[in-house]
Amino acid sequence: MTAKRILLGMTGGVAAYKGAELTRLFTGEGADVQVVMTQAACAFITPVTMQALSGKPVHTDLWDARIHNNMAHIELSRDRDAILVAPASADFLAKLAHGLADDLLSTLCLARECPLLVAPAMNRQMWESPATQRNVAQLRADGIIVLGPASGDQACGEVGMGRMLEPADLCEDVLVRLHQPKVLAGRRVLLTAGPTFEALDAVRGVTNRSSGKMGFAVARAALEAGAEVTVVHGPTTAAAPRGARLVAVESAREMFEAVQANVAPCDLFIAVAAVADYRPAQSHEHKLKRSDRAMTIELTPNPDILGHVAALKNGPFCVGFAAESRDLDGYAQAKRARKGIPLLAANLVQGTIGSDENELVLFDDAGRHALPRASKLEQARLLVAHIARLLPDRARSGTRPRRRR
Ligand code: CTP
Repeated sequence: MTAKRILLGMTGGVAAYKGAELTRLFTGEGADVQVVMTQAACAFITPVTMQALSGKPVHTDLWDARIHNNMAHIELSRDRDAILVAPASADFLAKLAHGLADDLLSTLCLARECPLLVAPAMNRQMWESPATQRNVAQLRADGIIVLGPASGDQACGEVGMGRMLEPADLCEDVLVRLHQPKVLAGRRVLLTAGPTFEALDAVRGVTNRSSGKMGFAVARAALEAGAEVTVVHGPTTAAAPRGARLVAVESAREMFEAVQANVAPCDLFIAVAAVADYRPAQSHEHKLKRSDRAMTIELTPNPDILGHVAALKNGPFCVGFAAESRDLDGYAQAKRARKGIPLLAANLVQGTIGSDENELVLFDDAGRHALPRASKLEQARLLVAHIARLLPDRARSGTRPRRRR
């Protein structure tokens, strides 16, 4: 991903302290952050802190002689991919809605060529006031992206709408929106992710060590690429991507039902879940009690979710995953042929389950494509780019890509 260049505008509000963490998160993701602060913002957090965290001098003044032509209000945004105003106070939203330009940040916003995003932060009464709501509606109509606010405890002691989104959420929202190219724009994607849990009794069951991280990484990469994403996921503590529709299930049969209920409108089905192939033939309502005798648990096969979707008439383009412990190529090729799918992403489980990194090998009609070892998100981005190259053009093939026969 090319490094994003963000102009972070900060206005006066207690949430200005979150701007410090936001800057750290952006720079941690490789983004270049140029901070511009209003006078009111400087009352809440100092430019010194923001300069230290962004690694760049902070601009606060419309008449800043450091800019060679003294046109900071134009120059500072010209090399930027976006302006994000966070926190955006009620006063600043009102200025934006009316095109006022009486300080460096408001002038920059008016003179920009890049997208403008705002993260409102204010007391709930200020947020709910007809004037603010009118201004926000105007900003949306003008093509300005409004991120949040969230509801919750406020600095003033009240509770309600108006909290600025948390820095991690803002960082994710902004980077997903700025990601280019949007190779899945207009596509609907259904994914499965995580393990399944097959109950044996009230507390025990059959499951596996899948963390759900790879499935969620593929979902995020699809969101970045512009897709509308639904994820059917088993029990997991991994952080789900923002912006995806989540359907939480427990067992393989529940996952199968959720996939059947959601697959119809989708162009693309990516089965990342580590679905338990078998479940206990009998699931006991109450906890099984210990005895000194040996116990045999009979297992019965679960439905093959990917196999079912791949066999649908006019079904979506299907991508499978395979985690193998040996003979990666042999098992992966055989699995792709058996499931009748155009693309299979395979990896060796040693060193990847639960890890933040992966090393996928993609198998398709053209052969074998090894992806370089990288974070699961980077691997997911490469996978999504590969899928987009294989997806038939809808203009030629009708409303949905045809699956491989
Ligand atoms: N899969 C599925 N439903 C199942 C089992 C697997 O949808 N009941 C999907 C997985 O999500 C994955 C692919 O099928 O995309 C391959 O999963 P895997 O467990 O490796 O395949 P199996 O066919 O179960 O083969 P194996 O004998 O290796 O377990």
